[in-house]
Amino acid sequence: MAPQIVEALKRLEYRGYDSAGVATLEEGRLDRRRAEGKLRNLETKLSQAPLTGVIGIGHTRWATHGKPNETNAHPHATDKLAVVHNGIIENFRELKTGLEAKGIRFETETDTEVVAQLVTYEIRQGRGPIEAVAVTLPRLRGAFALGFLFSGEEDLLIGARHGAPLAIGYGQGEMYLGSDALALAPFTDEVAYLDDGDWAILSHKGADIRDESGKSVQRVRHKIPAGSFMADKGNYRHFMAKEIHEQAEVVGRTLAHYVNFSGERVELPFELPFDFKDLNRISISACGTAYLAGLISKYWFERLARIPVEIDVASEFRYREAPLEPGGLALFVSQSGETADTLASLRYATAEKQHTLSVVNVPTSTMARESNVVAQTLAGVEVGVASTKAFTCQLTVLLSLAIAAGRARGTLSAEDEKELVNALIAVPGQMTEAIKREHQIEVLSRELSKAKDVLYLGRGTSYPLAMEGALKLKEISYIHAEGYAAGELKHGPIALIDETMPVIVIAPHDNIFEKTVSNMQEVAARGGRIILITDEKGALEAGLDTMATIVMPSVHPIVAPIINAIPIQLLAYHTAVFMGKDVDQPRNLAKSVTVE
Ligand code: AGP
Repeated sequence: MAPQIVEALKRLEYRGYDSAGVATLEEGRLDRRRAEGKLRNLETKLSQAPLTGVIGIGHTRWATHGKPNETNAHPHATDKLAVVHNGIIENFRELKTGLEAKGIRFETETDTEVVAQLVTYEIRQGRGPIEAVAVTLPRLRGAFALGFLFSGEEDLLIGARHGAPLAIGYGQGEMYLGSDALALAPFTDEVAYLDDGDWAILSHKGADIRDESGKSVQRVRHKIPAGSFMADKGNYRHFMAKEIHEQAEVVGRTLAHYVNFSGERVELPFELPFDFKDLNRISISACGTAYLAGLISKYWFERLARIPVEIDVASEFRYREAPLEPGGLALFVSQSGETADTLASLRYATAEKQHTLSVVNVPTSTMARESNVVAQTLAGVEVGVASTKAFTCQLTVLLSLAIAAGRARGTLSAEDEKELVNALIAVPGQMTEAIKREHQIEVLSRELSKAKDVLYLGRGTSYPLAMEGALKLKEISYIHAEGYAAGELKHGPIALIDETMPVIVIAPHDNIFEKTVSNMQEVAARGGRIILITDEKGALEAGLDTMATIVMPSVHPIVAPIINAIPIQLLAYHTAVFMGKDVDQPRNLAKSVTVE
């Protein structure tokens, strides 16, 4: 079994690897091999000390909590069980403190070991493995997927999904669990994808899938045609839908590259050839959605690091001949890393002796190769032309950079940094919560699809997000939409307002919420129909009739634009689907505009 598990792990190496491990049962006794570094180190260990047994679990790791070494490698185990984990358990510290108070000792700094010890504790209290997992899962917060193997249970595997994907493979008298169908390809082409909150009890006979409440449910079994693995839509009708739903996982994975979770601080995965302290200005240049991510980061760099930011769309920046002080920082954002205008701007900045830093999703792209520093997003392949998961991963990287800049310039205290980093750590779990508004948004999209023009309004970092919402809607539904600073409404656009014009207002309850409420009253007074995207407090205090109010999780103000990206993506997606548009490949567009 162990060699086949390693074969499957090789197909997951694209997700990042700094250690790996396998655990199997031999006559009911748990045994495991783990190794730091690449998978071949684990293979060497297994050749020197083979594992037998017909049931097992494996894992290839990108460190989030704890250094990338053998001790912290998965599977984590006690004498009762072994567990593998993808994602982040946000509340691991408080759970760990509770277990330590019961005299339980920990070997590692990982959040995964906390899960192993929690379930083990329940088993020691006399619960069976299934019940022990059932009572533990509701205590875990964050975006994660888990796989369990139990001592003495030769015919039992348990898997759980909460924000990070998990697939079940159906074999001949065998069953499998994997983070995606790709991992299961060596064993089977028949898979079912668990929904968020599902957990599954596997035996050689099949899978008993249960939902969050413990009720048995059925999940569709897909026959995956051979060779389609790289472009697999999973349960989704479109890549865009899959990529919207993947955000909790890929933002968590990206975060793991930039944040030390245990230390609650930013740790950039690269050296900087400059010191943020010495910079007088940052210039940012990008296109489309990537430009809007850059525009949101302008607010963060200026507020957190007190550093002036000049930003422009690349097609203007490259010809404007902006005077740039030698030794300054020029920052570029691009999913593809091949956008012609952005690449040309990068070359202009290089000629002007700027330090160049590119936030890209493709580390082998031209922009990555031509930049002094590459800040990678780990969104995975983004197939939908309308950018979604790349956008929220870009924001994750940009906010990490802004925090690092604030620390370097002394404008952020260690306490400030801790608060902001914990706000980031909570994002994957909050995204998993946010996606639960999808049904309400889908119903609302039917109304929106009848509009000829739509206005999006926002203040602060919700203003660039309003423009992103408008861009998403127009590029896949072809409805004309505009994003505006809410405060600008009275300087012209208010002339557009009447009962035919839906106005989508992005307004989390923050220090400028009241100002936006006044703008909404101006709209309502003229018969405008408002769709309000806010949080609990905002919904209570808005005090006006809206066409609809989408109540999002209450989050730290600094990460509001990352969470509120989800409803505007879903609004655009469901409107376009309802209108029968080609969502993944809208007319006239290309995924990467490599021409001028
Ligand atoms: C966004 O949904 C669009 N597909 C488009 O605006 C895109 O963001 C822009 O072309 C920039 O692409 P890049 O991130 O690959 O540079």
